[in-house]
Amino acid sequence: MTTSRRRPGGGGTARRRPFRLLLVAGARPNFMKIAPLLREFRKRPDLFHARLVHTGQHYDELMSDVFFEELEIPPPAIHLGVGSSSHAVQTARIMEAFEKVLVKERPDWIVVVGDVNSTLACAVVACKMTPPVPVAHVEAGLRSRDRTMPEEINRIVTDALSDLLFTTSPDADRNLIAEGVERRRIRRVGNVMIDTLRRFVRRSDDSDVMQRLEIAPPYALLTLHRPSNVDDPGALRRIFAALRALGREVPIIFPVHPRTLARMEELGVRLGAPPVKRGLRMVGPLGYLDFLHLQKRAALVLTDSGGIQEETTILGVPCLTLRENTERPITITRGTNRLVGSDPGRIVASGRRILRRGPARRPSRLWDGRAAVRIAAIFRRIHERVRGRTVAPGGARRA
Ligand code: UD1
Repeated sequence: MTTSRRRPGGGGTARRRPFRLLLVAGARPNFMKIAPLLREFRKRPDLFHARLVHTGQHYDELMSDVFFEELEIPPPAIHLGVGSSSHAVQTARIMEAFEKVLVKERPDWIVVVGDVNSTLACAVVACKMTPPVPVAHVEAGLRSRDRTMPEEINRIVTDALSDLLFTTSPDADRNLIAEGVERRRIRRVGNVMIDTLRRFVRRSDDSDVMQRLEIAPPYALLTLHRPSNVDDPGALRRIFAALRALGREVPIIFPVHPRTLARMEELGVRLGAPPVKRGLRMVGPLGYLDFLHLQKRAALVLTDSGGIQEETTILGVPCLTLRENTERPITITRGTNRLVGSDPGRIVASGRRILRRGPARRPSRLWDGRAAVRIAAIFRRIHERVRGRTVAPGGARRA
């Protein structure tokens, strides 16, 4: 793949017009990554015409709408409304719908984030347009080396197809280089999800979620939705056995993901009545600010999510990851994360140790809240190269 065959824009009347960017978001963990990017691009309407495409992979109030409100994301310009289905059907529906969007909109670039099915589907479609639409992947290069994870497949394919790969950490750069990606395509810019965390952490202090749910510290916070944990009845039962044991020492607050709730109902896993002082306390999915409020004050976070491993690192909260591997090793070497898998003995022993000892180490240099600023600056330079130098709103020439 070469950039020349994908050179955006062209000459003539198009020379000075802004880049038309389509930013893609589909599922809950995408929204906090897309928010700072949209904000930065929209600061320069002379250079960028940035619009959001929501694929509708996540579609309900608690998994989608609340994030738009709280993170001040403008309503999507285009909504594909694909909804839930098997991986193949969901991916195919996104591809079909997104192809029509690209045919009509003809953007200069698309920007995809993270590793969900929407990320992969839109990257594939863009590459197969005639001429291809260049793809920028934000959060590129992360690898768990576990190809049973749908997200790992999404990461590998998206990175293989992307023209610009924005990374969060040196391990991601190394992974991409080892896979043959040219160095000039890789830009280490930091972590856009941490941009959002840093922007909203003070606002989250005002959340009344503790009063509403009658929670008082100390408590542990749990999230669980990976297919490897919740679709495998053995793993799910083992994890719940460990959680019940740990729950005798500290209450565990558990905002339940819809897919986990469905699996628990199918398997007949019951947690009993919700005791407030001890044990597992199930609640519905939480909004961004409520979840951040609880995360910041937790004695311990237990999770199988990717992003939460990073957020806890920045917050300095100990994190036990209920997986055998992570695509985010920097959260272990430079953060607060520890892998404990689904083995009850390891989960309980590590949990007890942390509850006795407390945190923690500190984060990485580029996770400073300015990743989206760096990304927009890179696009500004590309715009200048392709379209020539631009005149700023005040009349001064911008370099
Ligand atoms: C997806 C992502 C995963 C991400 C997770 C965060 C892929 C392969 N996986 O997994 O990387 O960590 O989102 O949440 O893209 N559902 C609802 N309401 C919704 C959305 C989904 O009830 O708004 C239910 C669906 O009916 C379905 C289940 O949740 O049964 C799974 O949704 P889906 O988007 O397919 O995958 P996730 O498991 O959420």
